[in-house]
Amino acid sequence: MKIGIIGAGAIGRAFATQAVRAGYEVILSNRRGPASLAPLLAQLGGRASTGTVTETAQAEVVFLALPWEQVAPVTASVASWQGRLVIDPTNPILLPGFRLAELGGRTSSEVVASLVPGAQVVKAFNTLTPAVLAANPRENGGQRVIFYSGNDHAAKAKVAGMLQQMGFAGVDLGLLHEGGKLQQFPGGPLPTLNLLKVA
Ligand SMILES: NC(=O)c1ccc[n+]([C@@H]2O[C@H](COP(=O)([O-])OP(=O)(O)OC[C@H]3O[C@@H](n4cnc5c(N)ncnc54)[C@H](OP(=O)(O)O)[C@@H]3O)[C@@H](O)[C@H]2O)c1
Repeated sequence: MKIGIIGAGAIGRAFATQAVRAGYEVILSNRRGPASLAPLLAQLGGRASTGTVTETAQAEVVFLALPWEQVAPVTASVASWQGRLVIDPTNPILLPGFRLAELGGRTSSEVVASLVPGAQVVKAFNTLTPAVLAANPRENGGQRVIFYSGNDHAAKAKVAGMLQQMGFAGVDLGLLHEGGKLQQFPGGPLPTLNLLKVA
């Protein structure tokens, strides 16, 4: 399975590292274009490639690693999101000052879901720093916990399988409205918690 990663900054790279380690193919895109990603490709190895945002968004699973203010314009630039599984690691912060963006009473991933009609959205990978996310998920006899939430059971099951393959311990927080509040940064209780699940 190929995973499209839109946004190849700190979080996109950390996720790409885990994805290729787990045997997935990834295609990455950024704002500056594929040529700027040559050094990253060399690090990630043969399972990684680069493309435009449009090409990246054609993957079955799309990891949306963009600054919050870029999510609406970039998703709008993609002609169709029909049938995709979108993993949303974004945090609705406005800089400077890490202010919470205006969400109109919704969680940020509910907002993202409204921007990718026809796709299923699973919120995940937004609560850890890039360095922790890129580190070996198996540590001290445990597996690093990744929280996820979503409104579609099949999409969540697919993400759960990906997490397992990467070596993480997935914890399902329920629907985007409820789980998303727990995951929310700033404001929710779970961001920055680096937990290990011990069998
Ligand atoms: N950093 C963290 O600690 C952390 C933790 C959890 C979640 N998050 C969330 O994850 C998301 C990404 O954060 P980050 O720290 O990875 O940000 P980042 O390092 O600034 O990377 C952002 C990436 O998005 C790309 N981008 C920006 N505008 C774009 C556009 N119009 N079209 C295509 N690509 C575009 C940038 O491309 P260029 O490189 O070409 O500029 C860059 O590759 C944010 O929503 C953030 O809140 C961050």
